[in-house]
Amino acid sequence: MKRRTFIAGGLGALGLLAGGIFWAKGTLYRKAANSMRQLTGDLDAQFLRQVITADSAHSRMLMWQAESPLVNPGIEYRLKGQEDSRLVAAKQDFFTDDGVENNQYTAELTDLTADTEYEYRVAAEGAAGAWHSLHTAGEGDFQCLIFPDSQSSDYSDWQKVAMGAWQRHGDAGFFLNLGDLVDNGQQAFQWREWFIRIEPMVTAIPAAPVMGNHETYTLDWKVRMPEAYLRLFQLPPLPDGLAAKYGNQFYSFDYGDVHFTVLNTQFRELKDFEPDLEKDEVAWFRQDMEQTRKKWKVVLMHKDGLQYSFKHRTTPRPEGFSDEGRLFMPLFDQYGVDAVLSGHLHSYRNRGHIRNFRRDAEGPLYIMAGLAGNVRYPDLWKDHALDTKVLPQPETDNYLVLEAGTQELRFRAYFPDGSLADEAVVRK
Ligand SMILES: [Fe+2]
Repeated sequence: MKRRTFIAGGLGALGLLAGGIFWAKGTLYRKAANSMRQLTGDLDAQFLRQVITADSAHSRMLMWQAESPLVNPGIEYRLKGQEDSRLVAAKQDFFTDDGVENNQYTAELTDLTADTEYEYRVAAEGAAGAWHSLHTAGEGDFQCLIFPDSQSSDYSDWQKVAMGAWQRHGDAGFFLNLGDLVDNGQQAFQWREWFIRIEPMVTAIPAAPVMGNHETYTLDWKVRMPEAYLRLFQLPPLPDGLAAKYGNQFYSFDYGDVHFTVLNTQFRELKDFEPDLEKDEVAWFRQDMEQTRKKWKVVLMHKDGLQYSFKHRTTPRPEGFSDEGRLFMPLFDQYGVDAVLSGHLHSYRNRGHIRNFRRDAEGPLYIMAGLAGNVRYPDLWKDHALDTKVLPQPETDNYLVLEAGTQELRFRAYFPDGSLADEAVVRK
């Protein structure tokens, strides 16, 4: 890590930098002095990222790694264009995975004002990084980006799809990734590539990730708890009693008038580690649905609720519904979920509205989102009787944009060049 002494003469400690510094309620407030600007640009934060919080209008999670441990790490932030800034101390979390040591830092900004432009930067004793933008959620309409599975051998396709989407839809408040972010959850280079390729986006808008089965894979393709994923994303907390056991595996958050519920569908992979996952997650899901007062409910799950049969493989696999679908789809019906987004099969399928396992305009809209990496399964799946739109085979990459308004949720699927591939609307 590069670190520059702040002022010749060795005034390195934060407490000596500006006369207006004082601690209050655990937060360091300071009046920015001209001299503070000299800190800019020297602190080399890696994988700097915004992560979604339960209430995106008033809080934001910031995380990063540093090459070596930092002294007095924190996030300095201010209203855009203002000089007065605040410093929130960061928590340190050290872990090793795939032989790589991670000095990881996490800081949560709270008490933010809704629909407001802020700027933030990483700070430590005697050094700071570059300023980045941060926009809190408003209470009304918004857009977000939705990326299907990004797992890859080479993350250039991920970069092309994600950065192209973000450049075309710069108003997006956050982005979702529907699981299988990486091909192998233990391989450090995959995570590095995943973050680096989208750095301008993930420093500017928060990520809302969904855990996929590939996050649970070890270097020798067995399964483990998805340790890297669980460490890399500090996600909205679960209620007492579940937090210690299942923290960061499933969660929910609000953005505008939409309640998003993110499931962990890895029951099979995690059965030896978490035998009660299915039961406990269903109980939490019911509680989560009952407590929300938002107009719209959107569920995000890696594994799809429908089961597709193979086109050419000899292994019989009947068309129908998956174990995850049989478990959750009746609950989605019961609680009036508006839309369900999934991934896993690397194929874009709009199935329209389904209720009680049949076509029904009153049921949730089901979209399997496609792929946003370079792992392709050309011509693998037969069409399902409930498919209403299948993108051209073999699949290219794609992404989606959700426009959430007071009267409708509008999902648009796009090819990587920005041309429209499909559109679906939920109204109520
Ligand atoms: Fe998957």
